[in-house]
Amino acid sequence: MIPDDPARPQVDPRLLAGEGRERELYELLCATGYVPEEQVFGDFCESLKSGRAWLISGTRGSGKTAFPEALASACNLTMCAVAGRQGLKQEEILYDWDREEQEVWMRENLAIAKGLPVDEQSEFLEKARKMKWQRQFLILGEVGLAYDLAAKAAHTTPTDPPPVLLLDESDKFGSNIEDSLLMPLERGLIYIPRYEGGCIGVADWESRPIVITTSNDLRHKLGGPFISRHIYSRFANPTLEKELEILSARNPKALSAQLALAIKLLDAVRGIAGMEDHPSIRESIDVAAAFVRNAVESLDHNSLSRFFCYFVKTGEARELLSLQLDYLLAMTSAFHPVIDAWLADRDKEWVNRWPQLVGQISG
Ligand SMILES: Nc1ncnc2c1ncn2[C@@H]1O[C@H](COP(=O)(O)OP(=O)(O)OP(=O)(O)O)[C@@H](O)[C@H]1O
Ligand SMILES: [Mg+2]
Repeated sequence: MIPDDPARPQVDPRLLAGEGRERELYELLCATGYVPEEQVFGDFCESLKSGRAWLISGTRGSGKTAFPEALASACNLTMCAVAGRQGLKQEEILYDWDREEQEVWMRENLAIAKGLPVDEQSEFLEKARKMKWQRQFLILGEVGLAYDLAAKAAHTTPTDPPPVLLLDESDKFGSNIEDSLLMPLERGLIYIPRYEGGCIGVADWESRPIVITTSNDLRHKLGGPFISRHIYSRFANPTLEKELEILSARNPKALSAQLALAIKLLDAVRGIAGMEDHPSIRESIDVAAAFVRNAVESLDHNSLSRFFCYFVKTGEARELLSLQLDYLLAMTSAFHPVIDAWLADRDKEWVNRWPQLVGQISG
């Protein structure tokens, strides 16, 4: 669990969405450097308003994990997180009993019972055995904790915002973990056999944790009942304009020339036939950051191959791209109507570089 910062005010994203203040929430996210795609942000707001968990699928590096992180940071919310992996056990994420403490408890009570009159002993021990299943012996995993925190937040006045629960890489959970999540995702409750309270969590949709589930659709196919408990969105490749927004938000020190170079290069790489593993946002952010670090504003044969390591991830792809150096260099220095217009809109000097833009850009 990553707790909220008690020194900072909290914002309830569900409240903002419910009151039609979605734009405010969008701006809060952007202030962290995360620029959501409009359509998926709309889907997220629906998941907030409905109380349903939000399932996002998409290729690697498309910003799935970064979304809930940005949300928790923007709104100063506690975040509980489960990272999917093979062999994950239900008791690790929901709850477990502290067996050692329970044994110590029973030993202590047996010792006390021995000092009592015989006719009182069995009643005393029966009570002690029941108390073995009290809250103090319960160890909550991240999912259990998130539902428990949400229930506690719902009982505060004024109500605290719910925590964020990130179920990351859910395609690695496997069917056992998926099944164990069906009840909390549908009822908001986790039933615990023998527990004195019977269950933890909160049934009220408005008070539930903000659950964000991610999937790369790689390891296992998610089960129908698990998917059906979510609002679904796919993180598609962003438009060039959106990618430029993201690049400049993540690399605020980048010059227009460096943004142009990074995005024209990656756009050209993505267009090369035979490239199987396309560079994602993760790679374009890294390339732009490398240009800033190395004060690179233009490329030649040597320097271009030096930066391949950021976005070429197999030997075959490297060979393929090495044959395309001239093409890639030409693309990085050519005019691109979308990219250069976007940059000129934000940097008036940029217009002077491209006569094609004269008369097109307002102001
Ligand atoms: N819309 C965005 N705005 C700002 N940064 C973004 C955006 N999308 C992705 N990023 C950045 O790209 C990088 C990769 O994102 P992230 O780790 O969330 O990808 P992912 O979809 O979870 O990938 P994987 O499937 O490999 O886990 C991060 O540094 C993240 O901050
Ligand atoms: Mg991820």
